[in-house]
Amino acid sequence: MGSETIYRATTTAPVNIAVVKYWGKRDTKLNLPTNSSLSVTLSQADLRALTTASCSASYTGGDSLLLNGEDAEVTGARTQACFRELRARRAALEAADPSLPKLSAMPLRLVSENNFPTAAGLASSAAGFAALARAIADLYELPASPAELSLIARQGSGSACRSLFGGYVAWRMGDKADGSDSMADQVADASHWPEMRALILVVSAAKKGVSSTSGMQQTVETSGLFKERIASVVPRNMAIMEKAIAERDFAAFAEVTMRDSNSFHATCADTYPPIFYMNDVSRAAIRAVEQVNAKAGRTVAAYTFDAGPNAVIYYLEKDTAAVVGSFYHILGAVDGWKASTVQSLATTSAVIEEGIAGILQTGVSRVIETGVGGGPIKTEEHLVAADGTPVKR
Ligand code: DP6
Repeated sequence: MGSETIYRATTTAPVNIAVVKYWGKRDTKLNLPTNSSLSVTLSQADLRALTTASCSASYTGGDSLLLNGEDAEVTGARTQACFRELRARRAALEAADPSLPKLSAMPLRLVSENNFPTAAGLASSAAGFAALARAIADLYELPASPAELSLIARQGSGSACRSLFGGYVAWRMGDKADGSDSMADQVADASHWPEMRALILVVSAAKKGVSSTSGMQQTVETSGLFKERIASVVPRNMAIMEKAIAERDFAAFAEVTMRDSNSFHATCADTYPPIFYMNDVSRAAIRAVEQVNAKAGRTVAAYTFDAGPNAVIYYLEKDTAAVVGSFYHILGAVDGWKASTVQSLATTSAVIEEGIAGILQTGVSRVIETGVGGGPIKTEEHLVAADGTPVKR
């Protein structure tokens, strides 16, 4: 390995699930969206990417990425755009201070791991690109704020820009052609409304559906309904959602969350040929949430679906018994329930009707109980050893 210095920096980054969805690009090269979006950052105790960025003059074979133990491509345009942006900022520092080591010219070795099963089919690209941007920025000692890094992570994957912050995060679409104002903006810290919880029903998909990258452009090109969505539905939902978060108004938060998910999937159905991300199990989850809300006599749960069949159900901690209890009652046999929740839910009654329960029992493979959480965290838990070799775990 030679006697050259090995430089390392490691960070974790969270997953986020949008409550007002990003769907559509106005510029595919810069990854600029057709509309603003807003998400909740989820706790890294349950879902996170852990990434070490390292560089050394002794590394041979160019830039590399080891993802969940397997070699991954770094030649893609999106990863290259992130590397290019970060290297340019480092090169500027080196030009201004010639005493700095020339890290920008060294090959990058990245090692990244998720703490959740890839098989869960949860979008890991958001956490992955956010961690990549943060780890390389730390490696290069860039004076970059989360907002500035969100401009870079956005070019890796749009939704990744929102994972640079914890709590409640907007991605402002911006209007500049160069994308310099299309970045993430923290609407509220997790501590503003820490009671927000999410129950994820992991639904096994028969086959991989249309990727979000290609699906959203098919929608942009062919859906008439989409025009209405970006012109008026999303701007209205953004305004109501920001107010709901500021006022910690769960009923308003929940209604926008469900309506916006429905609107997004309606534009998918209006795409020609149509795109279907939700399946019978997803639709059963919607009915189940409605039954849970009806039984409670108020809105205690809100569903949302991304580009796949998994249901994410938001609720407040005080309503754990009403929401989680109802799902635990029918899905107690699957993996993922937290011991603490299960204990407190000793006696729960049937809320979800039998036909719906049966579909969920057949189609839900596991659950994840989580909640709102913080942004990326720097750590010394390096995935590249001091001698430059990837850590075996
Ligand atoms: C449905 O961020 O995966 O999850 O920018 O092409 O990488 P690319 O798309 P991606 O799309 C996410 C779409 C979504 C909604 C959302 O997260 O806002």
